[in-house]
Amino acid sequence: MVKVITYGTYDMLHYGHIRLLKRAKALGDYLIVGVTSDDYDKKRGKINLQQSLTERIAAVQETGLADMIIVEEYEGQKIDDIKRYGVDIFTVGSDWRGKFDYLKEYCDVVYLERTAGISSSELRTDDRKVKIGFIGDSEGNILNKYCSECKYVNGAEIGGICTSNSDVRRMHSDAEIFDNYKDLLKACDAVYVLSNPLSHYEQIKMALEAGKHVLAELPIATNSKHFKELSVIAKENNVVLMPAMKTAYTTAYNRLLLLLKGGAIGQVVSVDATCTSMANTDPNAWNSICAWGPTAILPVLQILGTDCKNYVISSLYGNREQYYDYFSKIDFYYDSAVASIKVGRGVKSEGSLVISGTKGYVYVPAPWWKTDYFEIRFENAADNRRYFYQLEGEGIRYIIVAFLRAIKDGKYDTYISDNVSDKICEIIGKYYDGNTNSLNREET
Ligand code: CTP
Repeated sequence: MVKVITYGTYDMLHYGHIRLLKRAKALGDYLIVGVTSDDYDKKRGKINLQQSLTERIAAVQETGLADMIIVEEYEGQKIDDIKRYGVDIFTVGSDWRGKFDYLKEYCDVVYLERTAGISSSELRTDDRKVKIGFIGDSEGNILNKYCSECKYVNGAEIGGICTSNSDVRRMHSDAEIFDNYKDLLKACDAVYVLSNPLSHYEQIKMALEAGKHVLAELPIATNSKHFKELSVIAKENNVVLMPAMKTAYTTAYNRLLLLLKGGAIGQVVSVDATCTSMANTDPNAWNSICAWGPTAILPVLQILGTDCKNYVISSLYGNREQYYDYFSKIDFYYDSAVASIKVGRGVKSEGSLVISGTKGYVYVPAPWWKTDYFEIRFENAADNRRYFYQLEGEGIRYIIVAFLRAIKDGKYDTYISDNVSDKICEIIGKYYDGNTNSLNREET
């Protein structure tokens, strides 16, 4: 039996793909089709996919031409696949001519003539670009990164920036700068909100009521009541309100959640997450609980659920009246587990994530929130497993892609559920209500 293998993205499957698959199949008796995973494609700079991996696999399946479909997830996989499946012929379109000659060591390599006049890229450019407006002042470096990453995502463009931050204004001098938020909204289809969390509610409400989609940094609001109200307004106006948080969209973090669900370390009994950085001296800077709290709380709620019996916040305040905490610790109590998070902007600690289970534990080294690597460790070190997933653009690209998809499909991605966003707002609300243990500050 002659086995043939071919690889592709197959975004918005078109007749060019089908012709290629037919000819590939005709080269032998058995056709294996490798569909590129979203992440692998992002690496090649193709972050403009319209369809998810599942949709693209389904489309290839529907052609009835593939005897087997596999997912291409990492560089160097082609050689592994050829050896593993005993492949005789590797084939792709002529646009790749010469690029895969290195595989001739393992099997025959055939370049098939590409069908003229059609490509996924052309089909995609028919879609109008979404103009995203950016608003925020104090956290300039994050705003800068979002604006820069937007350029890597096909289908998105900067509609304008509303900021007093001189660094952002300078770095993105090619973008239109607005002094007035209302004018920014008029110029855009969607808005990314990174202003101080105390302004989120008003700004998000204005955007949603103006029919604009919103991508907002967590906490979306500083209490649960406001979050719920904003969710209702989004639904009424038929627009997307999506939480932004880098960690939640990274591949490594999502694979970690899946492994835990599959029982990789047995029953989870404790989650300990720490995120700290040096103090930000900007008077409008986000406090520790808002800048780091949602990130650190995320694994607690996503692993143990939102149904905790109780939680206690302890904070070391810099300025209580302006709500600035240098450090906060939250202890969570569940029926069958506990968790603790430590966050600091002005207090330093080891920024790792440790998840303890009855069979073993997960260790994600600092800075775990930018995670591309983690380990599952057991009593017997020979059983330990290491996992590595490439992280592009700190995960921001993944968020913008997910946001565009949500706008296009009219439905939300499941990276962060409304329950989780809501619970985070509730916890932050408790902090703003002053419902905390205040740690004494010693003069040094
Ligand atoms: N292909 C083809 N004829 C076309 C388009 C694609 O023969 N008109 C082949 C490619 O050479 C490749 C396979 O189909 O072997 C999958 O291609 P893929 O990269 O998924 O599709 P493109 O349409 O080339 O996508 P893009 O425009 O994003 O490059």
